[in-house]
Amino acid sequence: MLTAITRAVSSSLASCELSWLPREPIDIAKAIAEHHAYERCLAGLGARVISLPALDTHPDAVFVEDPAMVLDEVAVITTMGVESRRGERETLAAAIAPFRPLIYMRDPAKLEGGDVMRVGRHLFAGLSARTNEAGVAQLAAELARFGYEVHAVELRDCLHLKSACCCIGDGVVLVNRAWVDTSAFDRYRLIDVAPDEPGAANALRVGDTIVMPNAFPATADLLRREGFSVATLDMAELMKAESGVTCSSLLFDA
Ligand code: GLY
Repeated sequence: MLTAITRAVSSSLASCELSWLPREPIDIAKAIAEHHAYERCLAGLGARVISLPALDTHPDAVFVEDPAMVLDEVAVITTMGVESRRGERETLAAAIAPFRPLIYMRDPAKLEGGDVMRVGRHLFAGLSARTNEAGVAQLAAELARFGYEVHAVELRDCLHLKSACCCIGDGVVLVNRAWVDTSAFDRYRLIDVAPDEPGAANALRVGDTIVMPNAFPATADLLRREGFSVATLDMAELMKAESGVTCSSLLFDA
């Protein structure tokens, strides 16, 4: 069945890593309520939600997409690109271990799950401040035996590849082309975000529904006009921590 691993919001979220946003006060109670609504949304769309306890010493630990990637055959436990997040992976790996064999990435490779977009057997890995060439090469070497092809992608002006583009359907990618070089995946059908909503490409496909923040109404309308079913959530406080909808869960069949 569709399974989602999530982790409760840390009380220290306001001390999170920030790369492109100014630091603003975060209302933790509201962030917790937003995260609960996100978990309810996933459950309402058919997912069994496994919610891990908060790691209060790790402000960004709610963003479980970054320390791990769960594929059909195996899970990859990543080497995070920032020191402050390196302590997140052990308890997350323990939660994934009942479902998949684990591969641990090793230094000097750096890679964060938010930088990896999967389209079928192709994995597109963004060369961001968090993911380096060695990380992409190690991912490719580890996953070749499972039949995955890994392609490096250049990006700019954003945190992760999935800030700039996400796969929202079979061979369909929602994209902000100002932030990513699409030449590695322009064989797919690309749908551009609305011009005034550069952050709208981070969208989570759950079954036949696209989940996205309610901060991007023009892109949500555009997707509905294209025939997608779209569910929107208030993520205002979580987004102050440079969050998106993909980074707060690991979704897989188990
Ligand atoms: N605050 C999300 C991150 O920088 O990892």
